[in-house]
Amino acid sequence: MTRTLDRLSAATADLDPPFAALDAGTLRRNAGDLVRRAGGTPIRVASKSVRSRAVLEAVLGSDLTGGAGEHTGFRGIMAYSLREAIWLAGHGARDVLVGYPTADRGALAQLAEDATLRESITLMIDSTEHLDAIDAASTRRAGLRVCIDVDASLRIGPVHVGVRRSPIRTPDDAAALARAALAHGFAVVGVMFYEAQIAGLPDSSAPVTWMKKLSAAELRSRRRAGVAAVESHTGPLEIVNGGGSGSLEVTSADPTITEVTAGSGLYVPTLFDRYRAFRPDPALFFALAAVRRPAPTIATLFGGGYIASGPAGASRVPTPVWPSGLRLLRNEGAGEVQTPVTGAAARSMRIGDRVWFRHAKAGELLERFDAVHVVDADGAVTAVATYRGEGQCFG
Ligand SMILES: Cc1ncc(COP(=O)(O)O)c(C=O)c1O
Repeated sequence: MTRTLDRLSAATADLDPPFAALDAGTLRRNAGDLVRRAGGTPIRVASKSVRSRAVLEAVLGSDLTGGAGEHTGFRGIMAYSLREAIWLAGHGARDVLVGYPTADRGALAQLAEDATLRESITLMIDSTEHLDAIDAASTRRAGLRVCIDVDASLRIGPVHVGVRRSPIRTPDDAAALARAALAHGFAVVGVMFYEAQIAGLPDSSAPVTWMKKLSAAELRSRRRAGVAAVESHTGPLEIVNGGGSGSLEVTSADPTITEVTAGSGLYVPTLFDRYRAFRPDPALFFALAAVRRPAPTIATLFGGGYIASGPAGASRVPTPVWPSGLRLLRNEGAGEVQTPVTGAAARSMRIGDRVWFRHAKAGELLERFDAVHVVDADGAVTAVATYRGEGQCFG
């Protein structure tokens, strides 16, 4: 990481912080590593963990589709909002799975009215209420593509390990929803089992690693039965999706799976530092400048309070990574406008000196910046727009 930061620092010396920088070589290597770990199963890119159309194009090709040329390992996008999916389809994307249900009536109506959008976008559902919401948005719903989200959490007695999303858990639940969707005139094209407790949980202790193994084994049989139950009504499914950056080899090892999802593994934020399956090679950083020296051991930087989502706590705060040995102050943390750092390196810092940080999560940082500065191996810097830079904010 130090070598990457040396290169980023030299290449961006003329830029005034705060700014975000992405190392192109590391991004490419990380993309290759995800493909290797997926072992031949196509990877759908989680756009929430990218949040720049230009970076999506770097991974999927300029048609945002993937599956050809140097982009053979990646195919399609998992969008996080229907409005985003519609926007991406407007830029050429033809295989967009919306990873979460929507209640956006305007976007549903727009989808239903447009044949290209209907063919390019797949909605996520987990209840008949979703079907009713789609029905209510437009009378033109025939052929709308839907995917059933099946709860992939682990239950041990009363203990729930995993995220709280879909109420659909058993093969019977999934089959009943598939039947209802077909009765509404929708095309049931897929099922998704997102095992957050495996894909999104670092291997922080032996019990966690044990739980992950147990969960993968339980899910394997439930996934097979769930897919069979749905397919008995729909015929062969196009999409059986699962996984995330932290679980590619485990998820792709299940022959039921047709595709895995990954996004965070491209940028590698700090929450992805402690997985057994891969060695982190961070690609995305942000730089802040020292603007004052309140004490000999403290430098105070401009900006920095880019706190990640999830349970509030130390793991969600950005981490100063260069110069090495700097840390945030416990009382102030990363501030709205001012971020003090302390440590040996702070003693020699002058006004205007830079500190490089990593964010805790992958895409959220780019909601703070209009552009991300992409640095090539030869030191060339290209500013590419983030979603925000294109005036797009999907929540
Ligand atoms: C439905 C779904 N699939 C996959 C992922 C994995 O994304 P990433 O690789 O960025 O962790 C997530 C992340 O939260 C998700 O919600």
